[in-house]
Amino acid sequence: MIPTILPTYNRAPLAFTRGTGVWLESEDGRRFLDMGAGIAVNALGHANPDLVAALTEQAQAVWHVSNLYTIPAQQRLADALVDATFADTCFFTNSGTEAMELAVKMARRHWFEKGQPERTRILTFEGAFHGRSSAAIAAVGTEKMTKGFGPLLPGFTQLAWGDHDALREAAAEPDVAAILIEPVQGEGGIRPVPDQCLKGLRDLCDEIGALLIFDEVQCGMGRTGRLFAHEWAGVAPDIMMVAKGIGGGFPLGAVLATEAAGACMVAGTHGSTYGGNPLACAVGAKVMEIVADEEFLAGVRSRAGRLRQGLEGLVASHPQVFEGVRGEGLMLGLKCRVAPADLVQAGHDEGLLAVPAADNVVRLLPPLNITLEEIGEALARLDRAAARIGTNAG
Ligand SMILES: Cc1ncc(COP(=O)(O)O)c(C=O)c1O
Repeated sequence: MIPTILPTYNRAPLAFTRGTGVWLESEDGRRFLDMGAGIAVNALGHANPDLVAALTEQAQAVWHVSNLYTIPAQQRLADALVDATFADTCFFTNSGTEAMELAVKMARRHWFEKGQPERTRILTFEGAFHGRSSAAIAAVGTEKMTKGFGPLLPGFTQLAWGDHDALREAAAEPDVAAILIEPVQGEGGIRPVPDQCLKGLRDLCDEIGALLIFDEVQCGMGRTGRLFAHEWAGVAPDIMMVAKGIGGGFPLGAVLATEAAGACMVAGTHGSTYGGNPLACAVGAKVMEIVADEEFLAGVRSRAGRLRQGLEGLVASHPQVFEGVRGEGLMLGLKCRVAPADLVQAGHDEGLLAVPAADNVVRLLPPLNITLEEIGEALARLDRAAARIGTNAG
C-alpha cells in the first residue's frame, strides 16, 4: 500500500522535535549536531532569536496580503539585496525551483523583446542541479532526473565539466540565450568552478551577447564566506537565483537581475501568490541584515578555515574512508572511498547530521554561525563515525 506521504524520499528514521543553534533533538531525546542545516538552509541555526523575533513580530502584524499590494518587508529585502549585489531588481519566490523557472523565462523573454525570439537555448553543465520542475529537469537532462517525465522542455544543452572546446562550439550556435551555472555545484558533489572559468564564462557571454545566469541557491547567502560565491571570482552575472539560506528556514527564494536583463518582465509576465510574502520577507530581511555584514562574513571565513583544516586531518587519519576535502567556506565536501550513505549513517550513530551528494561526496553545510567549539565537536564525531566505518571495512 502506498504510504500516506508519497515515497519520493528515502528518509532516515529520525524525527526532530526541537532545535537550538547547531543542535537538533530527536523524539527519543538524542541530540544531533546539525552539519547539514536542512541542506544549506538554516543559515543562522535553529530557533535563532533574531529570526524568531522578526517572524513573530510580523506574524502578529500581517501574514499575507498578495502581490496586489505593496509589502514593506519585501521592499526592505529587495533594497538590501540590490544594495549588496550586482542586481538592480529582484522578484521573490518560495523556492529555488521557482527561481529557476523565472530565470529561464527571463532569459528567453529578454531575447524575444530584443527582436531575436530564436535565442532560446540555455547552456548548462554536467553535474548541475537546478530543481525538479519540468524546466529544471530538462536543464540537467540526465536519465535519473528526466526518465518517464517527457516530453521534455526543449532548448537546453548540457556540457561536460571543463570541456572548453565543447563550450565554445555550443556557444557559437546562433540560438544561445544564456549560460547557466552554479559557481559551486552542491548536489553534484561540492565542485567549485575555478575563478578563471567563471571569468571565462563572463567573457564568453559578453563576446556572444548571451546572458550569464548564476544559480546561487545553495552556494549563496554567505555559505562560501562571501555574500555570494561569484564574488570570489570578481565577476557578476546578469541574472542570479537565490533561495535556501536567504529565508533561514522559512521558504523564500529570489531572482536578482540587472536592469538590462530584468526589463523584459513587465506587468503580467510573471507572478506568484505567495512569493515575497510578509512573513518570509520579514525573516529574509533579518537574515540579510546579519549575513551581509562584512564582520559576520569574515567570521564565516575564519571558522571555515578551522573546519577545513580539521577535515584535512581527518582525511589523513582515515585514508581508507576518505579521499579528500573540497569546497569553499562552510560548503565543504568529504570525498569518500566508502558509500556516502554509510558515512551519513555512522554520523547518525554518533549524533551528527551530514548530507550525501553525487560523486561519492558527503556534504558539510553547517549553520554559518557555528562556533569553534562546535566545529571541534563535529570533527570529533566525524572522527568516531569514520572509525566505525574503518573498523567495519577492516
Ligand atoms: C543549486 C540549486 N538550485 C536549485 C535548487 C532547487 O531549490 P528548491 O529545492 O528550493 O526548489 C537546489 C536545491 O537543492 C539547488 O541546490
